[in-house]
Amino acid sequence: MSNPTTVDYFSDAGVSQDPYEYWDHLRSIGPVTQEPHQNVIAVTGYQEAQEVFKDTDSFSAVNAIGGPFPPLPFQPVGDDITDLIEAHRHEFPIFEHMVTMDPPEHQKARSLLLRLLTPRRLQENEDFVWVLADRQIDEFIARKRCEFLGDFGKPFATLAIADLLGVPEGDRDEVRRNLGAGNAPGSRVGALDHEPVGSNPLQYLDDLFSGYITDRREHPRGDVLGGLASATYPDGSVPPVIEVARPATFLFAAGQETVTKLLSSALLILCERPDLQAELRANRKLIVPFIEEALRMESPTKVDFRLTRRSTTLGGVDIPAGTIIMLCLGAANRDPRKFDDPNEFRIDRENVREHITFGRGIHTCAGAPLARVEGRVTINRLLDRMTNIRIDESVHGPSGERNFTYEPTFLLRGLTDLHIEFDETK
Ligand code: HEM
Repeated sequence: MSNPTTVDYFSDAGVSQDPYEYWDHLRSIGPVTQEPHQNVIAVTGYQEAQEVFKDTDSFSAVNAIGGPFPPLPFQPVGDDITDLIEAHRHEFPIFEHMVTMDPPEHQKARSLLLRLLTPRRLQENEDFVWVLADRQIDEFIARKRCEFLGDFGKPFATLAIADLLGVPEGDRDEVRRNLGAGNAPGSRVGALDHEPVGSNPLQYLDDLFSGYITDRREHPRGDVLGGLASATYPDGSVPPVIEVARPATFLFAAGQETVTKLLSSALLILCERPDLQAELRANRKLIVPFIEEALRMESPTKVDFRLTRRSTTLGGVDIPAGTIIMLCLGAANRDPRKFDDPNEFRIDRENVREHITFGRGIHTCAGAPLARVEGRVTINRLLDRMTNIRIDESVHGPSGERNFTYEPTFLLRGLTDLHIEFDETK
């Protein structure tokens, strides 16, 4: 790997393929360390990352996604920049989505989502996810090989959210196609067999959901979208259409790629560890801790950001207001002060559920229950319908000389492609 003392986390190709050695190096300097290239403070310690997530007085989520990009739209002055943040909030990337909001606006936006994510809706959605997994597997099982992200992960993750939100069955193929998750076999291909929503899938989704909500307000219906359309804020007021559409839109943004990355990294582990594959086959209860350990080892969200609102200290380091904090979730999940032998995949790790792959505090991942269901169902159905699931060596090379490529981004951790072979269960 590149020299960890000089490497630029944000642009180094080697670190984007394997960030762990670099993070170990940062943590060896300290769990809260200055990153020199983008002038951010990198938090690689588990305890310290938790503190930041939970301290919304000192840390704002306004830059949660962009971090140092683009640069702050103002010059921080003084020990409390709350007013500056509020004056410039609209200049931050995706400021209109809940993940960048602070209290009290955040609570308002999240309340609409919580109206949707009831235990009953989640159970109905889980029932559908079992059916969906089989539908996806049906699309390629006869080939005895597949490229797992395109053939399963992406369409599966997209259609699971479409169902959660109650997108009508007749519209789902179009949503799948428009969000770059491929075409269902037999669906209308051709004109839309490219990237039709261009660079702004969020706008496409905002428009789609605004249409559904407007329709349900004019013609009330007892479906999921009808429930969203009639949801009110905690004070009883009726949200404008776009404020209902946005949380729906954001579910796709937050839950599509992340889940695809989780599923592919978990499957890679299963392929490379036939012993584990046999163990899970024999005892399906182990699938739950297996997914948790996969989440800990390969956190799909590598980093998350905060902006220091009030001067404070963290891990003994003074943090002036205006400092950009980079929470290295993938590093905190491998903090040896928290997890024994952190670089080892252990299915019997007692504290595995304490990983912070889904964040913590008020912004804790709203889709974590769905992501966990998707992981559990996928592994179960793959094991049911396939035996001897293995890496396609014609693409990724022989054991010991494997060749895998990860998305070259500083934000997410995930394979670009995963080619597998398998035998069909008789
Ligand atoms: C393995 C898959 C996933 C991972 C690793 C993941 C990770 C995260 C993380 C780390 C956050 C916190 C961001 C922050 O504090 O700045 C978050 C928030 C969020 N996630 Fe997920 N997520 C996953 C799947 C999903 C799914 C499937 C959905 C929806 C269907 C979803 C919806 C959301 C939403 C709405 C938020 C914002 C919550 C808020 O700001 O209150 N996520 N996710």
